[in-house]
Amino acid sequence: MTEIVMSAPRARGLFVLTAHPEGCRVLAERQWARAQAGFEAPLAKAAGKTALILGSTTFGYGSSTAMALRAAGFERIIGVGYETPPSFRGEKLAMSSPGWYLTGALHAADPNWRTYFADAFAATTRDRVIADLKAQGEQVDLVVYSVAAPRRSHLGQEWNSSLLVMGDPLEVVGLDFKSGQLKPIAVEAAHEIQVEHTRRVMGGDDLEMWANALLYSGTAAEGMTVTALSYIGPKLAPVRRMYWEGALGAAKQHIDATTQALNERLQSAVGGRAFTVMNPAVVTGASVAIPAMLRYISDYLGCDEAGQGIYDDPLDVGLHFAHSLYGDDEVWRSELDEEERLRLDQHELEPKLQEAIAALWEEQGEADPPEVTARGLARFRTEYAQLFGWEVEGVDYEAPCVPDSTLGEAEHVFDLIQSA
Ligand SMILES: NC(=O)c1ccc[n+]([C@@H]2O[C@H](COP(=O)([O-])OP(=O)(O)OC[C@H]3O[C@@H](n4cnc5c(N)ncnc54)[C@H](O)[C@@H]3O)[C@@H](O)[C@H]2O)c1
Repeated sequence: MTEIVMSAPRARGLFVLTAHPEGCRVLAERQWARAQAGFEAPLAKAAGKTALILGSTTFGYGSSTAMALRAAGFERIIGVGYETPPSFRGEKLAMSSPGWYLTGALHAADPNWRTYFADAFAATTRDRVIADLKAQGEQVDLVVYSVAAPRRSHLGQEWNSSLLVMGDPLEVVGLDFKSGQLKPIAVEAAHEIQVEHTRRVMGGDDLEMWANALLYSGTAAEGMTVTALSYIGPKLAPVRRMYWEGALGAAKQHIDATTQALNERLQSAVGGRAFTVMNPAVVTGASVAIPAMLRYISDYLGCDEAGQGIYDDPLDVGLHFAHSLYGDDEVWRSELDEEERLRLDQHELEPKLQEAIAALWEEQGEADPPEVTARGLARFRTEYAQLFGWEVEGVDYEAPCVPDSTLGEAEHVFDLIQSA
């Protein structure tokens, strides 16, 4: 093991290459403590249950939902995420992923947490997870599909997803992460093929294969619930066009169709159910990549700071999810919309907040953003850095740390990527 001082991150563009091990560990522990504080007592309906979380390894929705479910009383969490071990170029740390350290921290505190570092889209991953379930005599009560990926390979084909609009190209004044200035962005219109490729990556095909594999192998528990995380967002035109009416939205609408079909299948096969969960916009690795979202989420964070609305972070949303599904009174039934989707985005879509955000978008120049947006961007930057273990309060970034901690079967981590 190597001891080094990591006082600043290495980055390529927006992507941070080197996560800080101690920062990630401290953040993971704080989040776990917060998750536990979210329940006065374990929820009776969660007791003894097993969750399979696909896309569980970053400081995003997957891990937060997993922490909330475990704290609610789930007996076992099985996670899948695409993570690789820290790597060196000579003596220099080349890459270290926050997911490696986050997973290490969560597993250190909990023998009932099992994670596969693997390609969730690969049939070999499904086969292995199911073989292990069978070998242990376990069944899955809840699937949370939280994969956000730029590409997918399946049966020798490779598809890449696009962050493009449909119809006419979009010209919009967005926010530049680096300079903090308002800046025009042009977003091209997707070709039909690009829309189809995006659907192949972020649509429901893979979710359906996982649900079928669990059903056909007898590892779906009686009453199994399948959920897929999604986003619809506000009516604000540039965000609506960029997301729900764009190539990504077409994929998410395919997820809706998939969960509707799965709902019927699960009901008749195991008395279970399936639905999409509409989560709110948050600061994660996935959201920073979407043009116009940076400005919108900065506005949202700024309005929250100004007392004009409530921002829920991924753990708040995970806790809401666990209470809604497993608390008394089956609250989730009253949180379904007309399309039978679970709505956890109520705070984001509050009309007062949306009016305040829309007013901020009236600023269309190329200049400093309104003060509320600037304050929101400052918070966005901090929260974004924290996703990689940086800028975490109380962490001494001048102290030596160990970036190449081991993580293997002893810690219930199965690295199918390295062993392939
Ligand atoms: N970020 C938002 O604002 C937001 C809002 C609403 C809904 N959502 C939805 O929530 C879900 C999760 O998004 P997030 O923001 O938490 O993203 P994230 O980038 O933080 O997490 C994505 C997860 O997917 C995993 N992953 C990526 N490719 C994989 C592969 N090939 N095999 C296995 N795992 C893989 C990553 O390892 C990670 O664990 C997505 O469906 C997203 O659309 C996000």
